[in-house]
Amino acid sequence: MRRRDNPYTPGAGRKPAVLAGRDRDIDNFSTMVEKLNAGGNDRSIIYTGLRGVGKTVLLMEFDVLANDSGWATTDVQEVGNAPDFRALFTTMALRLLRSMSRRHRSAARVESALRVLKAFSVTLPANLVQIKLDVEPLAGKADSGDPEQDLAELLIEIGETAQSGGTGALFVIDEMQQLDHSAMAAICMGLQAVSRKNLPVALVGAGLPDLRHKLLAAKPYADRLFTYEELGGLDTNAAAQAIRVPAARSAVDFDRASIQRILERTAGYPYFLQVYGQEIWNMADESPIGLDDVEVVEPLFRETLARSFFGPRFELATDAEQRYLMAMASLGSGPYRTQEVATAYGAENQRGVSVHRDNLIGKGLIWSPRRGSVDFTVPLFADYLSETHPLIG
Ligand SMILES: Nc1ncnc2c1ncn2[C@@H]1O[C@H](COP(=O)(O)OP(=O)(O)OP(=O)(O)O)[C@@H](O)[C@H]1O
Ligand SMILES: [Mg+2]
Repeated sequence: MRRRDNPYTPGAGRKPAVLAGRDRDIDNFSTMVEKLNAGGNDRSIIYTGLRGVGKTVLLMEFDVLANDSGWATTDVQEVGNAPDFRALFTTMALRLLRSMSRRHRSAARVESALRVLKAFSVTLPANLVQIKLDVEPLAGKADSGDPEQDLAELLIEIGETAQSGGTGALFVIDEMQQLDHSAMAAICMGLQAVSRKNLPVALVGAGLPDLRHKLLAAKPYADRLFTYEELGGLDTNAAAQAIRVPAARSAVDFDRASIQRILERTAGYPYFLQVYGQEIWNMADESPIGLDDVEVVEPLFRETLARSFFGPRFELATDAEQRYLMAMASLGSGPYRTQEVATAYGAENQRGVSVHRDNLIGKGLIWSPRRGSVDFTVPLFADYLSETHPLIG
């Protein structure tokens, strides 16, 4: 097959040719937007999942859908490493209001919301936000200096502005697990405030699996504030579609055995499917693609994953942290009891290795499903490590 026609899209946040297995998510999201549009209430949505399951591209899709129904959206905003969430929300609020000002019936209404935003932003350290806002701050709203209260007032202002313009506002936040405790608390409180007033403001957020725990730890009512959805490997049908449909558009088919093998090797994980698809397309000579093609591609698939996915993540860890990861992998598949990991590591006790565990959690390579246990955030990482970096001695 010609390389330049390759229809597969391995890569972070790369929109796939077909968004397989997400019909229900899209339905749920559209229902939420409709409910809020009609003056009703619905929960914001939080997506969690391991690396490469398709969180970012799903957020991108929601952003487009909301735009299509006339909402203002922030685009997908990724939380950085050392975020002050107020800077993030300033940027997002500005995008929303700018977008509203293009279609709003009342320019004066949007302008006054921009002045509230200005007041919100001037309470922040100057090096945090450099937004260009040529309006006078409006004193008295969202400028108390208390982050929770100010964010709530800002969200209400945005919601009222949206409502009066007959539209809604969607915050789209990626890598949300990186927000700190106080940011999560403020976000919960802000969303609760707008939802109490039935204002058309919603958030869709995505992050690693510990995001849900973190929100709950920030505010106990976070459980009732959001709908939580977990993404994993695609089911058999959806995974087969992710491989078949892009190729079918160029009249290229796969036989049943080859599809089955690809699903086995990738466990249905979207990123792995895209890598497999890409490699096999480049290698195969003719349609239908069969088991012999799969066998030729297998080593290439592994190499590409090692180079593009596992390797760079492993390299994020220091030598001692790498040893900790290898100790986890030596125990088979997760989750792992930290006690057992410490033993496999060769540590005298827990305390000797807890710093490595904490650093690895901080780097987003592992997470803690519950107290005293850890697991990888990268799917099939244990398999990769035990094949390529076995723990010796
Ligand atoms: N529903 C889907 N069907 C087919 N391919 C998909 C689907 N979702 C995502 N992909 C593909 O999977 C890969 C990973 O997607 P994405 O970057 O959205 O994952 P992620 O969960 O955000 O990963 P990370 O946690 O590393 O940011 C991309 O190559 C994308 O094209
Ligand atoms: Mg992502």
